Amino acid sequence: MTVATSARATEAVRRCRLLAACSEAPGVTTRTFLSPPMRDVHAHVTQWMQAAGMAVSIDHAGNIRGVYAGATAGARRFFIGSHLDTVPGAGAFDGVLGVMLGIALVESLDGRRLPFAIEVVGFSEEEGVRFGVPFIGSRALAGTLDRDILERRDAQGRTVADAIRAYGLDPSRIPEAAVDGHAVGYLEFHIEQGPVLESRKLPLGVVSRIAGQTRVTLTFTGTAGHAGTTPMHMRRDALAGAAEWIAAVERTASQVPDLVATVGRIETEPNAANVIAGKCVVSLDVRHWNNSPRARAAGEAVTLARDIAARRGLRLDYEIRLDAPAFAMDTVLTALLERALSDGGVSALRVVSGAGHDAMIVGLRMPAAILFLRSLGGLSHHPDEAVDEGDVAGALAVGVRFLDLLAAEPS
Ligand code: GLV
Ligand code: MN
Ligand code: MN
Repeated sequence: MTVATSARATEAVRRCRLLAACSEAPGVTTRTFLSPPMRDVHAHVTQWMQAAGMAVSIDHAGNIRGVYAGATAGARRFFIGSHLDTVPGAGAFDGVLGVMLGIALVESLDGRRLPFAIEVVGFSEEEGVRFGVPFIGSRALAGTLDRDILERRDAQGRTVADAIRAYGLDPSRIPEAAVDGHAVGYLEFHIEQGPVLESRKLPLGVVSRIAGQTRVTLTFTGTAGHAGTTPMHMRRDALAGAAEWIAAVERTASQVPDLVATVGRIETEPNAANVIAGKCVVSLDVRHWNNSPRARAAGEAVTLARDIAARRGLRLDYEIRLDAPAFAMDTVLTALLERALSDGGVSALRVVSGAGHDAMIVGLRMPAAILFLRSLGGLSHHPDEAVDEGDVAGALAVGVRFLDLLAAEPS
């Protein structure tokens, strides 16, 4: 490992920690789609990208994009990216580290030009927190963002299109964000967000496949009423119905190997201690590396909700927010990444990603590969999320070797 690589890794980690302070809420890191702190993030990222010799723009889906020119004008483009939005109460590295490593990789070239241009992308949205739909940024780049998504509303009633306009961008120009046919491929650096690499004492991993995801919003509607005067057998309690269903989802999902199902969000109305809940909205997130168990489990969870609602005299409505199939990473690009690792004497494990990544959307348009960095304590979507600086330096060295191998490929 050269001194320069170690210094760049230290700087990438410092930048991640600095961006973690750009938050909607004091004392924690929460940064949803195009919320005000994203302006500060864009200001910092612009400065770092420009200093690395990139031409910077923000597309109309709010993605920040830095282009480092290739050896010849009109050279094809290789993309490196990840997301800059976060979950509520996030750590500093999920998504952000991938963008910082992209910039560090361009810095490592030190002005050297490759046969392809490099575009580093900081996607505006991957987590699906503000509007309940993930991948707004990468879908715009892939040219697969449905126009109906623009009408989805956040908790304050503002639409995706409103959020884009409030940021000074123009939703009607989102199609301009889509890549043309000149893409060479896409590489994403990302923390593993789980315990596997650490348990095997390995700093890096190569992703073979990303689990598919189904996300559903379910609404149980009953009748609000007085908590003191309504006898138990005369209630239509939406929250109690949802609670019964949540426990059933956990129980049934635990019986299917490799399946994970999560109810992570619940909103109840009127949300008062002395009022029976009249309405309860809950989220469901189901994942599996194989599509059929995931589809079956999601269908069964909805049937379960219907049965529970019918027995309790509740109405059930549901909306499928996401149905993203499992995604196999590109075999050629992944093999090249593995070669870059073995050239550097690093043994790496092939892993399946349970977390979703922008690569599963961008990969629909171009070959895509992911390099995982070990997550300390296996922790993610948590303020204590951490990486080892030595691992970051290792990832950067692999990235440089990977670009050189790619540059030596015939086309
Ligand atoms: C993104 O972090 C996801 O997998 O939910
Ligand atoms: Mn995440
Ligand atoms: Mn992420």
